[in-house]
Amino acid sequence: MKHMIETTSLIENAFEVALVAQKNSHSPYSHFAVGAAIKFKDDVTLYPGCNVENASYGGTICAERTAVFSRVASKGKGTIEFAVVLAHTTNPTYPCAMCLQVFSEFFKEDFPIYMGNESGLLKKMTFKEFLPHSFDTLSEGQRS
Ligand code: THU
Repeated sequence: MKHMIETTSLIENAFEVALVAQKNSHSPYSHFAVGAAIKFKDDVTLYPGCNVENASYGGTICAERTAVFSRVASKGKGTIEFAVVLAHTTNPTYPCAMCLQVFSEFFKEDFPIYMGNESGLLKKMTFKEFLPHSFDTLSEGQRS
């Protein structure tokens, strides 16, 4: 079996989108290519993201944020339905804390995050397992 977890055809499509994005990763400094796909509610498009590194290092952006910002740039804000993250690792690669904070900006109900590598998806966790509480100035400083 390709995936280590249960999937649907939509998740399978998102996996393929993330795989293509990972190939486009610009990561000459870390050599750690990451691909992502994001699905928002009420939007059929699966937005791709890859990490885009920069010689300044600080100008680097992660795959997950690239995907979210791509959706916001093309259709505006919305609510995340699920995310996929792939890296060239044996174990699942977890989204970094900055990406989780960005996810929290477009979060209403808890949503799944699928993690894997080029061979398949390895693990599914929910956003709230990663970040049960988040900083949010629109809700008096916190959101759960
Ligand atoms: N990176 C991501 O794109 N997503 C993650 O979830 C973890 C880290 C990128 C940032 C950097 O280009 C490289 O991986 C190494 O940290």
